Parts: sequence; C-alpha cells; structure tokens
Amino acid sequence: MSQGVVIIGVQWGDEGKGKIVDYYASDADVVCRFQGGNNAGHTLVVHGKQTILHLIPSGILHPHTKCLIGSGVVVDAEVFLEEINILKGLGIERLEDRIYLSDRCHLIMDYHRRLDEAREEKKAGKIGTTKRGIGPAYEDRVARRGLRIADLYNPEQFNEKLKANLDEKNFLLKELYHVEALQTQHYQQKYHEIAQNIRPFVRDVSSCLNGLIEDDKKILYEGAQGVLLDVDYGTYPYVTSSHTLPSQSALGLGARLPDQTLFIGVMKAYSTRVGEGPFVTELKDALGNRLRETGAEFGATTGRPRRCGWLDLVAVKYALQVSGIKNLAITKADVLSGLDTLKVCVAYDCGGQRVDTIPADTARLWKAKPVYETLSGWKEDLKPIQKSQDIPRALQEYVQFIEKFTGARVNLVSTGADRENVIDIHKAF
Ligand code: IMP
Repeated sequence: MSQGVVIIGVQWGDEGKGKIVDYYASDADVVCRFQGGNNAGHTLVVHGKQTILHLIPSGILHPHTKCLIGSGVVVDAEVFLEEINILKGLGIERLEDRIYLSDRCHLIMDYHRRLDEAREEKKAGKIGTTKRGIGPAYEDRVARRGLRIADLYNPEQFNEKLKANLDEKNFLLKELYHVEALQTQHYQQKYHEIAQNIRPFVRDVSSCLNGLIEDDKKILYEGAQGVLLDVDYGTYPYVTSSHTLPSQSALGLGARLPDQTLFIGVMKAYSTRVGEGPFVTELKDALGNRLRETGAEFGATTGRPRRCGWLDLVAVKYALQVSGIKNLAITKADVLSGLDTLKVCVAYDCGGQRVDTIPADTARLWKAKPVYETLSGWKEDLKPIQKSQDIPRALQEYVQFIEKFTGARVNLVSTGADRENVIDIHKAF
C-alpha cells in the first residue's frame, strides 16, 4: 500500500516546516513541491555550513530521496540553477537523477519581478510581498499568456510569446509605473542558455510521480507558505497567489495521493507573520521583541523581521477546518520556555460581538480584539527531552488545550533547531 505525508503550515507561513519535512524525509523515498515558488525559504545546516534553499525540496540532503517540482510551482530558472550550483558545491552528487522539474511549470520572468517590485513601491494597496514576481507569474498563468518550461524547447513559439509579453509589460512598466523598460533581444539569448542548462532536470513529473506511487514509494509533500496565506481561504488580499491547502498537493503535481495519506499541519507554539495584513494577537511590545529575538524570527527569503504575537487558536482552528487537517506538529515550544504565563486567543471581539472564526470581510478582522485564556508557562530547557512522558506538566497542558480546542491530534513537538530536538508522540510513516 502506498503511503504519503503532506506537510502544511497552518498559520501565515514560517512555522518551521523545513525542519519537520527534514525529519520525515529520512523515511521518505520522494519529496515533492506543489505550489509557490522562491518566495519560500528553508535554512539547512550541512557540515556546520548554513545554506538557504527556496525552490529545491530540502529532502535533497538525504542521499536516497528524489525531489520533484510539480506544475503548480512557479519557477525562476536562474534561482533554480543557482541552487543546483550550491548543492554541487556541497558535494551532493547525481543531481540530474534526483531532481525532476515539471515541463508544465510556469516561468517567473524578469518582468514579473519588476512588476511585483513596482507595485510594492506604490504606497497604496501594498501587500508586503517578497518581490520575487510570484503574483505576476500566477496572474499570467490564469490569463493564459504565461511561458512554461516546455516552451523553452520550441524557440520560435517562445520568442513570439516573449515578445507579446514584453510589449505588454513594457507598456505597464513605462506608462503606469514610470520605470525602465526591458529589451527583447537580450532575453531571447538569455533564455536560450537557460533552456540548455536546466534540460537535464526537465521531466513529465506527473507521469514519474504516478509511477512512484504505483511502486508503493513513500511520498512526502512539502507545502510552502501557510493556510492563512491561501489565495482563497487566507486573509485576502494579504495572501500569496497560490493555493496552499493540502488538496493542492494532488493538483500541483498531476498525480493521485497515495492510498494512505496523512495531512500534518505545522504550527508554531505562538504566532508570526511577515508583510502587511491583520494580525489579531500581534505584540508590539517588549514581549513581541523577546519572541523575535529568542525565536530568531527573521525571514529566510527577505531577512525581514517577523511580526510576533500570542498563539491565535481561532486562526488555527479555522485553518484546520478549511484544509481538512486533523494532525498537528507544534514547533518552537522552546521559545516560550521561561515565561510565567502564556496567553492563547480563543475568540475575537468584533465591535462587542464574540466571533469564533476568521470573517471573510478582512476589514472586520483588522478591527477584531483578541479574547484570551491564560495558561501556566514552563521553565525547563526542552531540548534534551525525547519522550512524551518527560514533557513538563505545563507544556503537556498547553498541548492538551490545543488538542481540545481544535479537535486535532498533536503528533509531534519540536523543541529546538537541531534534527534531534523532536518529541515524536505518534509516528507518521
Ligand atoms: P508573495 O508570495 O511574495 O506574493 O507575498 C505575498 C504575502 O505572502 C506576503 O505577506 C509575504 O510576506 C507572504 N509570504 C510569501 N511567502 C512566504 C513564506 O514562505 N513565509 C511567510 N510568508 C510568506
């Protein structure tokens, strides 16, 4: 029987999914990306050297795993090639046999990045994007004018589509945003070279993954961003431009899910978000700064300081509802060690009305005030703890409170950055 685990952030991204993926990847044969692009980022430590990957799944560090990038991912081919060079520099071999890049992926072009930047420079309507061109690339996909990896190998058609896109984007860049236009000639040559360099990795990923599932391989799906950044179910418009829910894992790879698939939602023991958008439990005080410093809450992609706050269980419960996730991994529990008491948001006060879900009208969410319950904190250093029976009583109560409130089961608690700082309560694979 084929088995799968889908790892999804259930807050606003940055829940520490990279570490959880890395933990489960040691038992997986295949690790897949199915949405987003190089707006994501995970920090890896190899031989004491820190590396940040944005596109290639972190499973590449386990020598036996294949890493697949499905058609739901938007690909900046230059970033992809940079990551290949980094991995080669780390001495990781046989990359062509282990990394499969879908020929149906849409390309993030320079003009997507330029448009993203130009829009973010405008004061009004700022989303606080990563400026990696993600939104404009997904816009072109649904507008049916995007360039896909397969187009690179049909140069005549590629050049034609490129010219049509450049004409349109140059008009917007020059006339609407008053920034410099881009040259067509330069791009034809540039993408000719890129096409040759990425060729060894380009595959029909849908067919490869279906074959691997039929062969009963263990498949790990690595979600990027988080449920509250989903383009439909997140805090719109302060969201990313793709679907971040587990159901996207089948769609973004063109393959059914394995017979037995577990969805694991990753949540931080507190809340963070980067970019603009409502954040009901945000702490703009010394405690917020303490969480940021202790939890090293600075973006892996942009380096931006993350906004920090108490755990918002209304948001997590909503995320579990829209995604169908029933199992949780809690990360960064160690960051809360040493606090006397902990607050947990259990409802919102919207102008005197008690609300227990995320309202669709984001204007209401901006005005919501948190309704808190207070729980006891713990003082112990959690890192050495390996068994669930050794978890301090107050942390046990915190975990039980989360389980009771959300109706989900906590499978795992992460207690530090290292691979071994994990309390695995219920095994996934
Ligand atoms: P975009 O995905 O670059 O368009 O950015 C849209 C929103 O999603 C912004 O608030 C970003 O900060 C946020 N975002 C995108 N990727 C990530 C991520 O990997 N972690 C956390 N936030 C992200």
